Amino acid sequence: MSLLNQTTSRKTSGLILAVSVLGLTLTLGLMSGCTKKSADAGNEILVGEYGSLSGSEATFGISTSEGVNLAFAEKNKAGGIKGKQIKLITLDNQGKPEEARAAVQRLVTQDRVVAVIGEVASSRTLAAAPVAQQYKVPMISPSSTNPKVTEVGDYIFRVCFIDPFQGLVMAKFAHQEIKKQRVAILRDVKSDYSTGLADVFSTEFKKMGGEIVADESYQAGETDFKAQLTQIKGKRPEAIFVPGYYTEVGLIARQARQLGMTVPLLGGDGWDSEKLSELGQDAIKGSYFSNHYTTESTDPVVIEFIKKYREAYKGKTPDGLAALGYDAAKILIEAMERAPEITPLAIRDEIAKTKNFTGVTGVISIDEKRNATKSAVVVQVDGKINRFVKTITP
Ligand code: PHE
Repeated sequence: MSLLNQTTSRKTSGLILAVSVLGLTLTLGLMSGCTKKSADAGNEILVGEYGSLSGSEATFGISTSEGVNLAFAEKNKAGGIKGKQIKLITLDNQGKPEEARAAVQRLVTQDRVVAVIGEVASSRTLAAAPVAQQYKVPMISPSSTNPKVTEVGDYIFRVCFIDPFQGLVMAKFAHQEIKKQRVAILRDVKSDYSTGLADVFSTEFKKMGGEIVADESYQAGETDFKAQLTQIKGKRPEAIFVPGYYTEVGLIARQARQLGMTVPLLGGDGWDSEKLSELGQDAIKGSYFSNHYTTESTDPVVIEFIKKYREAYKGKTPDGLAALGYDAAKILIEAMERAPEITPLAIRDEIAKTKNFTGVTGVISIDEKRNATKSAVVVQVDGKINRFVKTITP
């Protein structure tokens, strides 16, 4: 029996894993009353997760949840923590910041979870983190890279690198590796992630002597980017930096090609989705983005993870989100194991002490600002595969 079957049978009673496995869209309201209070949890440790299991960033939430579930299933199979099984309650926020906040409110005040994993997108973590901080329940974001996320307070952690580094990585890559001098930016103005990353890229690229020839904007949900792209085309850039999420990036790539622009697009981790090449088709082929891990790694830890994930999820190849979800869950597991008692405070203190954890996405040490310092990889889109190009260390 695979690990996944085990988790599925355990979790479906709470309706929760069914969400990610079956891809159903369940709203928070529908889920009410489906979970037990921790007081009745008996031999279980309740952990919460919130993410975009539906909406235009659905692959973010689904992949993350799959990674988290894999880690917990392995631990439960091995006997759990202090003799207790971990029970994960996953809520879908449909990609909306206000739903993200409501989800965490619910996890913390009704389900009384001892820790929360989430979110992926920085704007949603920023909306929800103050609730976890207020109720003093530790939260680990697997993948929110905006610096402000962990500044919310001492209960908020992340296991990924941050955008001041990611932006520098792509600026360096653009200037030194592919030798571009004139770059345009197209940013999502409503996204903390996108604007933060665009600003860092712009500053760093200019410091290197490069020129930002245009800085245009859009908002997630838009589907026609021709006006901005026409402006950009007029400035004859040699590359376009688009620090957005995959749904818009796929469309932007196609419209850029339709307007006759053949220059590469550059982006950040927000491109990481199996849907990117489906949406962008040939137009996105050859473009580059920075990411948290590469499936082409020869590191035995990565190879083993990919094998286990494929076994659990019908041969699916794990993206960076799945890898980060797995690492976040394992760091939480280790913290719970070390904690003298399973309370939010004791768990918080142990997460903060995480040093040299060997993760799938690299070696993770949590610093005094509750961030992780790690290397990044640059990959090149080649159909469904993202080819490894380079590792860049801090
Ligand atoms: N780093 C992005 C953010 O902070 C989220 C993301 C991470 C998206 C990893 C895809 C892959 O908003």
